[in-house]
Amino acid sequence: MAETYPAILFVHGFPFDHEQWRPQLERLTRWRCLAPDLRGFSGGDPPAGGYAMSVYADDLVGMLDRAGIDRAVWCGLSMGGYILFEVLRRHRERVLGVILCDTKAEADTAEGKAGRDELMRVAERDGAAAIAERLLPKVLGATTRAQRPEVVAMVRAMASRLLVPGLVGALRAMRERPDSRPMLEQIDVPALVLGGSEDEISPPAGMRAMAQRIGGSKYVEVPEAGHLTPLERPELVNEALEDFLLHASFR
Ligand code: MLT
Repeated sequence: MAETYPAILFVHGFPFDHEQWRPQLERLTRWRCLAPDLRGFSGGDPPAGGYAMSVYADDLVGMLDRAGIDRAVWCGLSMGGYILFEVLRRHRERVLGVILCDTKAEADTAEGKAGRDELMRVAERDGAAAIAERLLPKVLGATTRAQRPEVVAMVRAMASRLLVPGLVGALRAMRERPDSRPMLEQIDVPALVLGGSEDEISPPAGMRAMAQRIGGSKYVEVPEAGHLTPLERPELVNEALEDFLLHASFR
C-alpha cells in the first residue's frame, strides 16, 4: 500500500503559498498529500540563525515527523526545487522520489544576486503587492496572461497576501543557495522533471539539460504554460504526476 500510494509533500515557490497546489490537492486524492506554507510566508517565527535553504529543509522534515511519515515523494516548484536539493543533501533517507517543477540547479549569478537585493528593497519599502506586480509578468506564461484572467487574479491575490519578513528571508536564502549541479548525477531516486514551454525563469532548455543529468529521470514539457505550470495547465500536470506516481519504482 505504502509502495503504491506514497505520501507526497508539495513545496511551493516564490512568492506563493500552498494554494499554488490547489489543482493537485483536489485531484490526487488517492495519495496522502501535504502542502505546507514555508516558514515566514504566512506566519511562523523567524529562524534564530536567519533564513536559509537548510532551515526550510529541516522544517519540512520536522513536519513529516509530526505527521508520522517516514519517507515521501517530494514535489517542489522553483524555490521548492532549491529546497528539494537541500533535502537530498541533508535528509536523503526521507526521500522516495522527486518531482522537480520549473526549477534550476545552479546558484544565482552576480546579476541574479543584485536582483534579489533590489527585490528585498521593494518588499521592505512597498510591500508584498508590489512584489506581486513586479513578478507576475515573469511567472505567468504569455498564454496565461492573455487567456486565463482567473489564474492571473488568483496568483496576484496569493502573492499579495504574503508577509514581508518571510519574503525578504526567502530572497536572502535564494541569494545564498549553493550550486546544486554537482549533485544531479548522484540523485538515485525516481525523478520527474516538468516545466512549462513558456517558462522564462527556468526555460525548457535548462530543464531538459537538468533531466539529462539525473539518471533514469523523465522529462515532461507542458505546452502553453509559464513558470507556474501546475496552476496554468493543471490537467496536463495532474496527468503527468499520476503517471509518474503510479509507475515509478519507489523503494
Ligand atoms: C520561484 O518561483 O520560486 C522563483 O522564481 C525562484 C527564483 O526567484 O529563483
